[in-house]
Amino acid sequence: MSSTTREVVLGIGAGIAAYKSCDVLRRLQERGYCVTVVPTPSSLNFVGSATWEALSGRPVKTQVWQNVDEVPHISMADNTDFFLIAPATADLIARIAHGRADDLLSALILASDVPKLIVPAMHPKMWNNAATVDNVATLRARGFIVMEPDTGRLTGSDSGQGRFPETSAIIESFDAITGNLQDLKGKRLLITGGGTREPIDPVRFIGNSSSGKQARALALAALRRGATVHLIAAHMDTSGLGDVSITPVQTALEMGDVLNKEFAACDVLIMCAAVADARPVQQSTGKIKKSNLTSIQLQENPDLLAGLGTLKKDQIMIGFAAETSDLVESARSKLLAKGLDIIYVNDVSNGAIFGKDSTQGMILTRTHSDIALKEVSKDALANILLDHAVRQLG
Ligand code: C5P
Repeated sequence: MSSTTREVVLGIGAGIAAYKSCDVLRRLQERGYCVTVVPTPSSLNFVGSATWEALSGRPVKTQVWQNVDEVPHISMADNTDFFLIAPATADLIARIAHGRADDLLSALILASDVPKLIVPAMHPKMWNNAATVDNVATLRARGFIVMEPDTGRLTGSDSGQGRFPETSAIIESFDAITGNLQDLKGKRLLITGGGTREPIDPVRFIGNSSSGKQARALALAALRRGATVHLIAAHMDTSGLGDVSITPVQTALEMGDVLNKEFAACDVLIMCAAVADARPVQQSTGKIKKSNLTSIQLQENPDLLAGLGTLKKDQIMIGFAAETSDLVESARSKLLAKGLDIIYVNDVSNGAIFGKDSTQGMILTRTHSDIALKEVSKDALANILLDHAVRQLG
């Protein structure tokens, strides 16, 4: 399994429908899947490697004989979460059913036990041939999901069952297997992430340890579930966030300005950023000499979340907290004081969580009992919180 749980191998068999899989690839990418195309060698007669490389943005291999030192069929198989084999010809289905491993695609399929969707496309005589019928029955009995081909006109003048299904039907079946629900379609999510920095002088600042990893996970998860996502990013890695719209900010006050402008238009606000509680009263324009750095006078920053209370209509508001003790009590009082619907409190004792890929803590809502999360990936937490938001959005 990959670290993102979104890695897909799109296997291409040697059928004329291979060209239709260019569209399948595009639709998969739009839905947030990370796709590696693995064509059979003979399928390259229909659509060549250059097309697949250009569309997928990834190298394309057909044989196990490239980069042999990396044992590519095993490492790729280990790094794949789902297979979509479309189109699957009678020959490819036969090879898979018989456990052949005579090219990269069949070797990968043999070396992996993740869910696999097979989309057959062939002449009706081949589809109805007893050999194919037996092979499909074998694959289904082994847990492969084999779609029924459509009935209608084929490439030549014949018609019957064997047509490659419509892209939308393939994607729907694939989503059902992966659980990739588009349950945030049409919803606008405003997410803050990272940690604000309050300048002392041109060199120094008051900052915090937030890496922005959780906000990244939230933004990507929301995007994959169909939301329009706006990330207000304070000092965090914003590369590779695809269609997420990003507003970089430095300080708490800057973050507040953007929030005040954007909040009214959002359906869900997730305040994942670590906002500095205070800022220097004065920001020096020149670098302060070491000998003068004896004390910094601070003034409190506004509580951004609490300030949004007056603008709140029916938005769902999710907050984060980082605590080392009395997790539930302090989270419950923040939930109420800041007008939140959901709060996730990280247990950051012993240097845990900041900058890490996993988290542990508690989810508190106004209506449900508290949920303790032992250790989950930040990707998983993102989806768990989004599940709560979807439920509360009704
Ligand atoms: O810092 P505190 O534990 O109160 O933060 C809890 C929540 O409040 C977080 O979601 C954080 O983004 C938000 N917050 C804020 N404005 C502040 C401090 C924190 O909106 N000045």
